[in-house]
Amino acid sequence: MEKRSSFTGKIGFIMAAAGSAVGLGNIWRFPYLAAQYGGGMFLLVYLCLAVTFGFALMAAEIAIGRKTGLSAIEAFGKLNKKWTFLGYIAAIVPAIILPYYSVIGGWVAKYLWVFVSGSGNAAANSEYFETFIGAAQEPLAWFALFIGATALIVLFGVEKGIEKVSKIMMPVLVVLSVGIAVYAVCMEGAMEGVKYYFVPNFEHFSVKTVLAAMGQLFYSMSLAMGIMITYGSYMKKENSIESSVGHIEIFDTGIAFIAGLMIIPAIYAVGNPNTDLKTGPGLMFVILPKLFAQMPGGQIIGAAFFLMVLFAALTSSISLMETVVSVFMDKFRCGRKIACVLVLVLCAILGIPSSFGNGIWASVTIIGLTFLDFFDFISNSVLMPIVAFFTCIFVGYVIKPQSLVDEIETGNMKFKKRGLFTIVIKYFAPICIVAILASSVFDVIYKLITGSSWL
Ligand code: PFF
Repeated sequence: MEKRSSFTGKIGFIMAAAGSAVGLGNIWRFPYLAAQYGGGMFLLVYLCLAVTFGFALMAAEIAIGRKTGLSAIEAFGKLNKKWTFLGYIAAIVPAIILPYYSVIGGWVAKYLWVFVSGSGNAAANSEYFETFIGAAQEPLAWFALFIGATALIVLFGVEKGIEKVSKIMMPVLVVLSVGIAVYAVCMEGAMEGVKYYFVPNFEHFSVKTVLAAMGQLFYSMSLAMGIMITYGSYMKKENSIESSVGHIEIFDTGIAFIAGLMIIPAIYAVGNPNTDLKTGPGLMFVILPKLFAQMPGGQIIGAAFFLMVLFAALTSSISLMETVVSVFMDKFRCGRKIACVLVLVLCAILGIPSSFGNGIWASVTIIGLTFLDFFDFISNSVLMPIVAFFTCIFVGYVIKPQSLVDEIETGNMKFKKRGLFTIVIKYFAPICIVAILASSVFDVIYKLITGSSWL
């Protein structure tokens, strides 16, 4: 068998995994969910899940990858033949995410263009975003541009170049975001927003909050979709899985946290909390231009910001597409080019309705959701929890946590949180996931019958 290449060292591994983890999930998705699901309450639930669920699942996935040296589809099967199916379900997730991820990537590209061409102030107008996504051709053209760029990069294998650039962009993005967040927090009226973001209000606690936070955790950390198994398969035995997971978590959560601090207080300072908190996927595009319009040098800062977000989005979409392409190559026994074309066809089939669903097809809904929200829901709130659940059962009761603890402790490394790891994998995570999934499925059925929500 061909020897797998490996990352040059611990830093190399952390940077690569963080590059996949940090993307639109942190900057675009986290803030609108936090706004929608009760601010401080969402943040608290998210943090609790990150240090328990997130930690255990990421450590398990990386350990499975490193132990087997295989990608998800084969890794489960190698450890136990009957569990091959889990690798397949995991592989479906990136294929569902990539098309709509690229629609949002297209929106980012459009906003970069708006700021670069000097019309950023026009985007501060409340109707601007609605008009943009409501049109048929323009968002579709930006989507095509984004997915086309991703495909070209994957096809020509020039990811390394993009990764190099993004290694410079990422730290700049962090610094810039902190600066924007500080500015936003200091604006008049923003303190109310800071309070909303930091202080948990128990009235906001619901099953939906937990489901949303859990889905976001998987999405943001690239969990429950086989990605971390593949990354683990490239990791060297002498590097510590436990401390790498800790670093990736801090990095990923830190960026999401800053993005929330940049956007949520700004809703109170430059927007209208009564309506904006519930905006959903458009939130970042509605609020940030308003903020940049008031900031000294806001047009340049806005252009720089969207450029860096575009890079973060590209590194993530590349890693998503790579995953889908390699699955297609293996399963259809075709070359890279054909696989890329097939993936593009798939992206068109799922991406075009996602783009139109915000405008001309807005009235077409599935279980009450527009196409984009529907694909987001199916992957984050249904498939990923299912994959996570079975992964826990697989590790907890089939191969047993000890086998992964041994992997994590390879080379006399001490696994400090092994107790937490075992309890989360065997009991806490599976019970929690079943309870949450059952109540949300029940809610969908209840809504279909009665027309109103039970949760
Ligand atoms: N974790 C990425 C984000 O937060 O944007 C999304 C993602 C990227 C998921 C790459 C999966 C992946 F392979």
